[in-house]
Amino acid sequence: MSVMAASNTVKYGIVGVGMMGREHLINLYHLRSEGVAVVAIADPHLPSQKLALDLAHSFNWPIKYLRKKVWCFEGHRELLDSLLCDVVVVSTPNMTHYQILMDIINHRKPHHVLVEKPLCTTVAHCKEVGRSEVVNSARKRQDMLVQVGLEYRYMPPVAKLIEIVKGGSLGQVKMVAIREHRFPFLVKVNNWNRFNINSGGTLVEKCCHFFDLMRLFAGANPVRVMASGAIDVNHKDEIYDGKVPDIIDNAYVIVEFDNGSRGMLDLCMFAEGTKNEQEISVVGEIGKGEAFVPESIVRFGTRVDGRNGVQTLKAENDQIKYDGLHHGSSYLEHLHFLSAIRAKAKAPAVDLHDGLVSVAIGVAAQLSIEKGRFVTIEEVMN
Ligand SMILES: NC(=O)c1ccc[n+]([C@@H]2O[C@H](COP(=O)([O-])OP(=O)(O)OC[C@H]3O[C@@H](n4cnc5c(N)ncnc54)[C@H](O)[C@@H]3O)[C@@H](O)[C@H]2O)c1
Repeated sequence: MSVMAASNTVKYGIVGVGMMGREHLINLYHLRSEGVAVVAIADPHLPSQKLALDLAHSFNWPIKYLRKKVWCFEGHRELLDSLLCDVVVVSTPNMTHYQILMDIINHRKPHHVLVEKPLCTTVAHCKEVGRSEVVNSARKRQDMLVQVGLEYRYMPPVAKLIEIVKGGSLGQVKMVAIREHRFPFLVKVNNWNRFNINSGGTLVEKCCHFFDLMRLFAGANPVRVMASGAIDVNHKDEIYDGKVPDIIDNAYVIVEFDNGSRGMLDLCMFAEGTKNEQEISVVGEIGKGEAFVPESIVRFGTRVDGRNGVQTLKAENDQIKYDGLHHGSSYLEHLHFLSAIRAKAKAPAVDLHDGLVSVAIGVAAQLSIEKGRFVTIEEVMN
């Protein structure tokens, strides 16, 4: 393919090519037959740039752009000003999302955006992005879709459980319990994820995924949050610029919804000795459904049929061409977002409001730990 990509090719730029940005690059490579090309990257960190360029070269990526320094930028503004991209993927540290999003939204050229979770680290910033004239529902531009990377929705066992719940066979959902037991936070470029000020705090950074799922399963809006958590095991012997990390490594969080249903998160980040990283249980008036990741198992049954009637299935999605780090969910996220862009959809599958509410629950949970009391969503929204 020549330097000018085919006219119907959707041209992507990736801002931030650390671990997740490179994951997006690989996913987009696997989508190349869908008419997708990555034409530019932006990252100030030379080792990240080099790893991304090496990856692109190793694919023998059909575009030549990435071999030229000119399409490898140090910052997002240069990438935007290049006018090369139709879509921008924002996969930079959490505390940078707000400014980068505002710059994209206010740029003279409209770009579709896939922004990694959490949307921003504070409710105020999420709201400001959502209020922006071009993405606001009243004045929305058709040429600008902003999707938030809450990709757990796309993991095959989770997607199957969502389908079962929405199909009504469990009845009105009353309880959603999500257990994440996993390894500690990985090491990141310049250790940005070691401090609440950069990440928004563990319950925002990591758990916005689960609060988003709770809200989906409950089919309702959160009202108030009670949490207990601490930094008990991890990162205690680490020091960066004289400071010890302040991110919690375990918590229980209870979320109450406005239809009377309840959610509970059980988070432990020193639990490598476990088979599944996520175990999700949704109980309705009629039945119960469960999803296990990475086993990719879904179980569901009704009270009437009891234990003997419980069905077990292996959740798979043969659309996935690349499993990557998140069990194919990043691939499906891109596939769906691309379809929305091509269909000129009015809204993306996961919008700015979803991003805002998932952050608000996390912020309320962090505050609840600090204050030792229930925190209402209204309190953090205002
Ligand atoms: N969807 C998921 O499940 C998932 C998983 C991991 C990370 N993430 C999210 O992806 C984002 C990136 O995380 P990561 O794990 O890749 O971190 P990382 O530290 O590995 O990479 C971040 C990269 O962004 C670059 N960067 C920093 N400031 C920048 C700027 N202003 N402009 C351009 N580049 C900049 C850094 O140099 C680095 O290369 C975070 O928001 C994180 O929460 C999401």
